[in-house]
Amino acid sequence: MTRVALVTGGIGGLGSAIATRLAKDYRVVANYLPSLETEAKYWQAQQAKVGMQIDIVAGDVSDAASCEQMASHLLATHGCIDVLINNAGITRDATLRKMPAADWQAVIDTNLSSLFYVTQPLINAMISAGFGRVVNISSVNAQRGQFGQTNYSAAKAGVHGFTKALAQEVAAKGITVNTISPGFINTDMVAAIPDELREQIITDIPVGRVGKPDDIARAVEFLIADDADYITGTELSVNGGIFMH
Ligand SMILES: NC(=O)c1ccc[n+]([C@@H]2O[C@H](COP(=O)([O-])OP(=O)(O)OC[C@H]3O[C@@H](n4cnc5c(N)ncnc54)[C@H](OP(=O)(O)O)[C@@H]3O)[C@@H](O)[C@H]2O)c1
Repeated sequence: MTRVALVTGGIGGLGSAIATRLAKDYRVVANYLPSLETEAKYWQAQQAKVGMQIDIVAGDVSDAASCEQMASHLLATHGCIDVLINNAGITRDATLRKMPAADWQAVIDTNLSSLFYVTQPLINAMISAGFGRVVNISSVNAQRGQFGQTNYSAAKAGVHGFTKALAQEVAAKGITVNTISPGFINTDMVAAIPDELREQIITDIPVGRVGKPDDIARAVEFLIADDADYITGTELSVNGGIFMH
């Protein structure tokens, strides 16, 4: 039986690496923002060219109604989503004094409330199946805080609180819930950091490089394995040693 995995933000930097790595062993559905339909279809066609059949599904993870609709479609098509990777996220950086309320809210909605909106309508099917894997993508900037990211650090810290609480609720049902906290990974999000600051960040990373998206995909693959059933409620840092706690 091939398990079905949903990756939110699945056509982005990390999401794409996760989706393509899992596609070897799972039936993968990559979620995308409804406004990005053309990009999502192009992305899907590019994957198909290299032999990867990946489904795509529209859904705005910051919007409860959109997630309900997405879940109804997915459950009707697949019966159950066995593996859920809550990966979609955004940044809207500014110091607290200058942060517009809309940027606070957008980051909380997309990075934190999304976990409720996406996971709640899918969890009952996992419980009925007696199997489930949920991996929530947080950030090193939740663990240590980051100048200019009160919104992002707060939302991502909330992600791991969600993980630990849900892990307890569903542990006896064959479902594990874990967090991965990436450090600086080479995606558009990190490419947006000014060159000088990026060089400075690299000198602070003990491994001596920024991470590759596949470094995160590898960690996801490990946590969702059928025999990873004793690992739950944990936070796995994948950060080249930049923060240890
Ligand atoms: N890259 C890093 O170094 C790093 C480090 C720590 C944590 N993370 C976390 O890792 C995750 C992936 O980041 P990334 O670097 O791959 O960023 P990315 O390249 O910007 O990808 C994020 C994806 O999520 C999508 N998305 C944004 N809002 C959405 C919404 N409301 N509904 C559905 N999809 C939405 C984005 O679409 P658009 O392109 O339209 O925005 C994009 O495809 C995020 O949660 C991020 O916070 C990244």
